Amino acid sequence: MCWNFPTTLKHTFPSPWLELEKTLAVRVTVQRSQLFLLLVFIILSAIAAETEDQDYVALLSLKDIWQNTPPNWVGSDPCGKGWEGIGCTNSRVTSIMLSSVGLTGQLSGDLELLTELQTLDLSYNKGLTGPIPRSIGNMKKLLNLILVGCSFSGPIPDTIGSLPQLLYLSLNSNYFSGQIPPSIGNLTSLLWLDLTDNQLKGPIPISDGNTPGLDMLLNARHFHLGQNNLSGTIPPRLFSSEMLLIHVLLDGNQLNGSIPSTLGLVQALEVLRIDGNALSGPVPSNFNNLTNLNQMYLSNNKLTGPLPDLSGMNRLSYVDISNNTFDGSDAPPWFPTVQSLTTLKMENTQLQGQFPVALFSLPLLQTVVLKKNQLNGSLVINPTHSNQLKLIDLQFNSISGLEGKEAYNGTLKLEDNPICGLTGDLNNYCTVSFSSASYSTQNVDCDPVPCSSDQNSSPNCTCAYPYTGTLSFEAVSFSDLGNNTYYKILEYSLMQSFNYYQLPVDSVSLTLSNSTTTSSEYLEMKLKVFPLGQVSFNRTGISSIGFMLSNQTFKPPPPFGPYYFIGDQYEKYTESKKSSRSSIVIEVVVGGSILLLVILLAGVYVLYTKKRAERAIEHTSHFSAQLDQSSRGGGVIKVKGVGWFSLKELEKYSNHFSVANEIGSGGYGKVYRGSLPTGELIAIKQAKKESKQGKLEFKTEIELLSRVHHKNLVSLLGFCFKKGEQILVYEYVLNGSLKDSLSGLHGSRILHDPSVD
Ligand SMILES: *[C@@H]1O[C@H](CO)[C@@H](O)[C@H](O)[C@H]1NC(C)=O
Ligand SMILES: *[C@@H]1O[C@H](CO)[C@@H](O)[C@H](O)[C@H]1NC(C)=O
Ligand SMILES: *[C@@H]1O[C@H](CO)[C@@H](O)[C@H](O)[C@H]1NC(C)=O
Ligand SMILES: *[C@@H]1O[C@H](CO)[C@@H](O)[C@H](O)[C@H]1NC(C)=O
Repeated sequence: MCWNFPTTLKHTFPSPWLELEKTLAVRVTVQRSQLFLLLVFIILSAIAAETEDQDYVALLSLKDIWQNTPPNWVGSDPCGKGWEGIGCTNSRVTSIMLSSVGLTGQLSGDLELLTELQTLDLSYNKGLTGPIPRSIGNMKKLLNLILVGCSFSGPIPDTIGSLPQLLYLSLNSNYFSGQIPPSIGNLTSLLWLDLTDNQLKGPIPISDGNTPGLDMLLNARHFHLGQNNLSGTIPPRLFSSEMLLIHVLLDGNQLNGSIPSTLGLVQALEVLRIDGNALSGPVPSNFNNLTNLNQMYLSNNKLTGPLPDLSGMNRLSYVDISNNTFDGSDAPPWFPTVQSLTTLKMENTQLQGQFPVALFSLPLLQTVVLKKNQLNGSLVINPTHSNQLKLIDLQFNSISGLEGKEAYNGTLKLEDNPICGLTGDLNNYCTVSFSSASYSTQNVDCDPVPCSSDQNSSPNCTCAYPYTGTLSFEAVSFSDLGNNTYYKILEYSLMQSFNYYQLPVDSVSLTLSNSTTTSSEYLEMKLKVFPLGQVSFNRTGISSIGFMLSNQTFKPPPPFGPYYFIGDQYEKYTESKKSSRSSIVIEVVVGGSILLLVILLAGVYVLYTKKRAERAIEHTSHFSAQLDQSSRGGGVIKVKGVGWFSLKELEKYSNHFSVANEIGSGGYGKVYRGSLPTGELIAIKQAKKESKQGKLEFKTEIELLSRVHHKNLVSLLGFCFKKGEQILVYEYVLNGSLKDSLSGLHGSRILHDPSVD
């Protein structure tokens, strides 16, 4: 569907040649006598590559040592010829995004030649091995260094600390060994540090006089250091009240000593996992100062002292303090006060006395695991208990009576209690049954079609090659894994992200399946992303989807905590044009003829250029002003069917970009809902400061989007480029059946995780 605004049928953008023409014009006037030289210059610029030599050399060196590089990596002009996975700005390579393409080989030290590189994402290439070269420290412009789920090994080089602009450092799920380099503390811009699931050992580095340390990362929101072999204590100096951390994940290491009370100063903290270590001593008494904490895992340590006091922690949903050696005590008085609690796991925590019946007054309760304690008396299930209650596990206690069973239809586990000894195994709550719910996306309004063995039936019942991988959530705020609503929210939010933020890549559908909880208490599930209207993705599509998940552009909806994704290798690419030997020959022949033609035309062009360039100079001086006014008039490039909106109009349509109209947010910026005076709904995508593109890229995106019109893809209606704003306006589309099943969520902020930005 297209939208034409009568006033804005014609739009112009500054041509990339304007700058050149401007230069030429100067030459023409100043160096008229050197017409011959100018001619040569023009011929050269007509045949010269658009890529800076040093960048080409670096890529060539990677191409040499890697296998499975994209087939269109031929010729000597990666930028000009659009090598897949390579992004350029002004003839310089600024991004390499090649996730899941099956690269094998090592990283070349020549990477350092890419001095303008901002993003390096080689995630999900299991065949990439060896160390990170020390020369990585020379890529001073790097913002994102993302090597998730490869097979890199060896120590992380300390030169990694000399990347002053780095925002995202994700090296999770590799085989890195040695210590965490203290120099990471110098990365003061860093937002995201993920070293999960490696073989790192030794202490968590903190600063000390001349040595930097992680305590200096005052901008970081994420310390994900779980599933390594880190040892030593959690240094008290690691945390301070100036820190902005929201996720601290140190689970599955060998940390010892006590939990530092400075952790209680990190006010923004939402997810804390320090389970699976050897921590001892009491839980600091200022923990209940962590009023934003939502998920807390202290289980499987050697904690002592009184049970932690969780009163006042009013956002707490998920608490697991199992398997510690706390002082024996009766049920603590804070039990019934933490109203947001969905999950309480206190297996083997020396609880004694009467079963705390008051627990059942918690309105959102889903799971209570109090097994292996010394609780006695009767279990009285209050008939007004939460209707989400699905599991009461009291195995290995001294419960002798049961009341209110009729009012409860969840699972009850009372094996190894006196009550089971008395009544025998007649009651099903006295035999442990294994039931693990697993979710799978259902087809929407269609019957699955039979597909050839390597294809899959998409949710829309067409056969295609999906991009697959495993999503692992390191924490979630719920425990009722049989409640499909959570997965539906996740699917919906993934769809929204793919289809809004990843334009113009591909429109997709997706499925989730095989959800399980792993031994490290991560919620894992299989994700399959299907191309819509096609049988398979191209490399750009796969890299974009991969990047969206590896770079955490996708922010999961609130019930879901921190995650990582490990993509499988994608093999069934739709090939973009292959450069075979014969086509190279053709290129040469054609190129030769063109060269001749160019020489003939060059003279004519020079004369023409002079006039043209004079105009261009005039044009160029109005360059910015023009863009600000949406570049009306003086046509160079036309974008058909796309309208220009003023900032004022968009403010009006979105009620001043009100929070209520916010329908999503992500790395790119925010998306608002709005309505046109005609009543038509629109989605307004507003780039945030950090993610603004250059004028040319913005132009390119608009041009690309304006050509894409597909029934499953939101169409671009218009844009706004003013006062430093970059805004795209799309048709507002909601998938019909999803919309119905989630009508309660429609328009709410389910995509928005206010914590992660
Ligand atoms: C708890 O937080 C408040 C401010 O939010 C602060 O004044 C107080 O000192 C903190 N208490 C402890 C024990 O850290
Ligand atoms: C507590 O420890 C036991 C024995 O090691 C283990 O089987 C169980 O999974 C642990 N419980 C939790 C909640 O981690
Ligand atoms: C499933 O979860 C949703 C969201 O928390 C909740 O509103 C709903 O009641 C739950 N359904 C069941 C059957 O527990
Ligand atoms: C998912 O579960 C189904 C049914 O249990 C099983 O057949 C299939 O192999 C599983 N797939 C993966 C990728 O684990």
